[in-house]
Formats: sequence, structure tokens, C-alpha cells
Amino acid sequence: MRIVRAKDYEDMSRKAAAIIAAQVTLKPDCVLGLATGSTPIGTYKNLVAAYEAGDLDFSQVKTYNLDEYRGLPGDHDQSYRYFMNVNLFDHVNIDKANTHVPDGLMEDYEAACAEYDAAVAAAGHQDLQLLGIGNNGHIGFNEPCDSFIKGTHCVDLTESTIQANSRLFDSIDDVPRQAYTMGIGTIMGAKSILVVANGDAKAQAVHDMCYGPIVPSCPASILQLHPNVVVVADEAALALCPVE
Ligand code: GLP
Repeated sequence: MRIVRAKDYEDMSRKAAAIIAAQVTLKPDCVLGLATGSTPIGTYKNLVAAYEAGDLDFSQVKTYNLDEYRGLPGDHDQSYRYFMNVNLFDHVNIDKANTHVPDGLMEDYEAACAEYDAAVAAAGHQDLQLLGIGNNGHIGFNEPCDSFIKGTHCVDLTESTIQANSRLFDSIDDVPRQAYTMGIGTIMGAKSILVVANGDAKAQAVHDMCYGPIVPSCPASILQLHPNVVVVADEAALALCPVE
């Protein structure tokens, strides 16, 4: 695991965007695994700016997002499909048909989740998977639990995640209680992984991800077993990590 120290959120966002931009430049038809949340918004802004400057071409890029709230349609302003359109897809020359977000309204979800994994595998797996991290160490919506769940699945959100994400909804009662998420196996299938984190609320989770025991009570800790992970985090998020 390589840790890149950023000065602040802006610096983290520029560095993370530079890594994604390098991937797109080196392999124009790459497969990107993408993430939502407030952390990657600045990263996406920098990618849009690079596209507008003529430095990036998304025309052959394929994307697979990590997760989606169960029960939210793609046009709901808190759905992750909507987030991706507003923060990235609507502003670059990506073919929307090449963008994939789990369908929050899927009916037979076990079959649909298996199809999502099969589609990621058929695309050749993610060349680069972008991840944020939850305050409790979750990645995607893989919440702390007793085992690492391999494939894309439906998950019950923890109270801590519902609480953390309620800031984006009108009221906490509006936060969906379940979500679909790529499983740990789906994430670990990526050829390279980029984790972004900022702020002191993430400090414990970032420490446990990088230095804690590899346990499903901190889902991000599994990333220690992946051969190609870069963590780009600001000073506050790295406050509990040793300076190497
Ligand atoms: C959400 C998402 C995660 C994200 C995390 C942190 O629940 N499912 O993919 O990494 O929470 O979000 P934020 O970046 O807003 O702190």
C-alpha cells in the first residue's frame, strides 16, 4: 500500500485526478470503477477541468460504480446515478451507455447483482478502482460485519452510515435503509485501487485500513492484501498514521 500525503482537500483532489488522468491517457479504453460521496467531488472537478482543457478523452472509457441506494430511481437527486451524471458524466465526452451504476430499483436483485459482477468481469475488471472510505471503515457500502462478502449484494446500512449520510437528505427518515454494493471480491478484482480520504473524521478508519488487522469489522483493511493500492489522503486523515 502506498500512501501519498496531500496538504489539504484541494491537493488531494488534484493528486487523485492526476492518477486517474494518467490511467485514461495510458489506456483510453480503460475500465474505471467509480465512487460517490463528498470526498471524490473535487477529484471529478479536476477531471472535468482536464477534459475541458483538451487533455483527456473519455470517449472509450467504461465505468462501473460501486453502489446505489435501494429504492431510489436514477433521477432522484440523492441517487448515485444522479450524482455521477451531475459531477462527471454530464461534463465529459463519455458515452452514457458505457457508464454503469447498480439499479436502485432492480426487482430480482440477487440475479441483477450477479449480472453486475458478470458485467464487470466481462469488461476485463476495473483497471483502476476509485474508493472513498466511510467513518466506520466501509468501502462502497460494505459495512463492518462478520465476514467479507464477495459479490455485489444488498446490504443493511448501519446507524452510523445512515447518520453520516443524512446530511445530504431533507431528514434522516428519508435516508434509504438498504443499498446495493459491489462486494469485496468485486472491488479486489480491480488491477489497481486509489483510495481518497480527507478530514479528521476519517483518521481512525484510514489508520485501521493501512495498519490495523485485516478483519471484516474494518472492511477497508482487506486492501492491505491488494498488490496495487495508492491512498491519497490529507494531513488530517493521516493524523494517526506514522510518517514513513
Ligand atoms: C458513502 C458511500 C461510500 C463513500 C462513503 C464516504 O456511504 N457509499 O462509497 O466512500 O460513504 O463518504 P464521504 O466521502 O461523503 O465521506
